[in-house]
Amino acid sequence: MRDPKTARDRLIVGLDLPSRQAAEQMVETLGPAVTFYKVGMQLSFSGGLGYAADLARAGKSVFLDMKLLDIPNTVASAVEAIAGMGVTCTTIHAYPQTMRAAVDARGDSGLKLLGVTVLTSLDAADLAETGYAGSVSDLVVKRAVQAAEIGMDGLICAPGDIAAIRAAVGHQLILVTPGIRPAGSAAGDQKRAATPEAAIRNGADCLVVARPVIKAADPRAAAEAIIGEIEQALA
Ligand code: C5P
Repeated sequence: MRDPKTARDRLIVGLDLPSRQAAEQMVETLGPAVTFYKVGMQLSFSGGLGYAADLARAGKSVFLDMKLLDIPNTVASAVEAIAGMGVTCTTIHAYPQTMRAAVDARGDSGLKLLGVTVLTSLDAADLAETGYAGSVSDLVVKRAVQAAEIGMDGLICAPGDIAAIRAAVGHQLILVTPGIRPAGSAAGDQKRAATPEAAIRNGADCLVVARPVIKAADPRAAAEAIIGEIEQALA
């Protein structure tokens, strides 16, 4: 995953669906168009953890979006268990102590670890309320530098954070970017969305897209259109 090769392998479709059955149907609909899936909290808590392992066994790349945060011993145990599932990557909140525990625990399993720097739902006022001084972008860059030093593989980052993170850590980290809206599609609750082409041109490695694919009248055509946009940006 450090160096995703094809445009197709850079699209991660979020299976934000209420049941394993709904997820299975979507994966069947998408067929060979999609090689990489994200399984997050909703699906995990409705039968999706076993499905994530099955998808990996079936040859798909799987991003298990667990956003782990706990004491180091517990995070380490969770990372060891996730590494045994055969998935490609998982997420850890980018606190230095948590990242160190995760990096130690994944050993040579091949599991890729992605840090969540600052949730994109948080603004400066939310940070202040939480007890942090300073701006969101300062904290994002600080945690990006720490993630690179600790040996994380990458970060989840908003389209607007890509430039600052690349400036701080270069290409040491793979950047996986949600908040993607193909030109003309509904933004939904994504406030700072970017098109697939813009995000890749700005330096994202992989894009996470859920609703514009899974809610489309023709999900496969929607996925192919996004892959086409990624191809254009890479050309
Ligand atoms: O439907 P949509 O394309 O907005 O879904 C984006 C996916 O990426 C969702 O699974 C969402 O939880 C996730 N995500 C996000 N913004 C973040 C982190 C994760 O939208 N900052």
